[in-house]
Amino acid sequence: MPLWRMLPGLLRDPLRELVALADAAEGEVIRLNVGTIRPYLVTEPAHVQHILRDNAANYTRGGRSMLWRPVRRFTGEGIMSDGPEWQASRARMQPHFTAKRIDSLVDTMSHAVSEAVDGFEEPARTGRWLDIGAELGRVICRAISSVFFADRVSLADQLRIVAAQDTIVTALRARLLLPFVPDAVPVPGDRALRRATGVVDDIMLPLVRAELAHPRDSDDLLAALTRARDADGRPLDERRVRDDVVASFATATETTYAVLTWLWPILDAHPAIAERLYAELDEVVGTDRVISREQLVALTYTRSVVDELLRMYPAGWLLPRAALADDVIGGTRIPAGSIVVVSSYITQRLARYWDRPDTFDPDRFRADQPRRSHRYAYFPFGGGPHQCLGNHLFNLEAPLVVATILSRYRFRLREPGMPPKQLAAALRPGRPVVMALTPVHEQRPA
Ligand code: HEM
Repeated sequence: MPLWRMLPGLLRDPLRELVALADAAEGEVIRLNVGTIRPYLVTEPAHVQHILRDNAANYTRGGRSMLWRPVRRFTGEGIMSDGPEWQASRARMQPHFTAKRIDSLVDTMSHAVSEAVDGFEEPARTGRWLDIGAELGRVICRAISSVFFADRVSLADQLRIVAAQDTIVTALRARLLLPFVPDAVPVPGDRALRRATGVVDDIMLPLVRAELAHPRDSDDLLAALTRARDADGRPLDERRVRDDVVASFATATETTYAVLTWLWPILDAHPAIAERLYAELDEVVGTDRVISREQLVALTYTRSVVDELLRMYPAGWLLPRAALADDVIGGTRIPAGSIVVVSSYITQRLARYWDRPDTFDPDRFRADQPRRSHRYAYFPFGGGPHQCLGNHLFNLEAPLVVATILSRYRFRLREPGMPPKQLAAALRPGRPVVMALTPVHEQRPA
């Protein structure tokens, strides 16, 4: 597909244009002619499964795979890389993210979220406008930090990390757009990236050093990684611990608040869905401030709203890979060295697999609905060996955050309408979502 034919649509709304291309291609692999890299766009669920799972060994995140090289300037060579280093990190971290382990965190996390949402009392009383993206960043940091660091990083430092991550995501855009420029050649954003990475290192490295010197007997991720041993029985070096803790914290916070920031304009545009959500929260949570495991299980509509958000706004929207050897996908030859791109955003809006794909409809995820036609028609958390480690954590955290906020407050947007999509490492709204809150319960007639 030559660039000139795609350009007008790509400039207007690149993702909409790519979905239209994929629909028109009816499952065929598309070769995008974008300058020197000419990646293959793979959207058909069976082909996605081939790349992410069945033939994953041939599709690496290492080498010249375009998204990952710049991202690794920040996240290092552990869990976000590929090959033996990734495998060792994955094996060390996996036990901390199983469904069973995450389930044991419900109470810790529910308390952390409740306390963080207490921070909305003052702005709700005074009617102050809030940038909900930034506020969610604060709530999510609090929740994640309880699990990752047992609260050993102060909230002020967590917020400095999140601000640095924000700079990094923006600073990486030039590298993502210019993947063929060697690392030694400076591009805009490099200095900001170095400075922001320095901020994170100044907070994390002394902490990791202190933890390695005096390992704690606790089950948070930081303590566990500082107690871990490498294949030769030696403690991990501080860089490796830093890389994996920072990479997980960055993905956990960045993706979660990217997804949940879309919720507010969506609910504002769909009052009937908002009413059903409020009715469920009223019935299940009522005036309780800390949500219990039983209540969480009963919040089925809330869960469907989150699932549908992940379909329409999957934060990890672009998964690039580099092919190691020649391959054939659906009749298209993929020569060794090619860049192959799969995108949850595009596949999750294909008209062949989704009825009214651009309509927000949580009922698609109701338990009594027929199963989807293909496992890889919906893959917000990827799949295969690199499948997201955080999916259980997200599935606990996101409904807790939504339910805790909306059982206490209603919101009013300053600027109605859907924000444009910003194509950064995560898919985020292209402008701040600003809103005011009013308490639910005090509004009721006595
Ligand atoms: C809530 C906390 C989260 C944590 C701690 C987390 C952590 C991680 C980690 C460590 C990986 C790398 C796994 C590996 O390569 O072996 C990963 C992969 C991934 N995550 Fe998450 N994640 C979280 C949330 C999310 C969310 C909300 C989304 C999307 C909406 C998401 C989408 C993905 C995807 C698509 C991959 C696969 C990347 C690939 O195949 O190259 N994650 N996640």
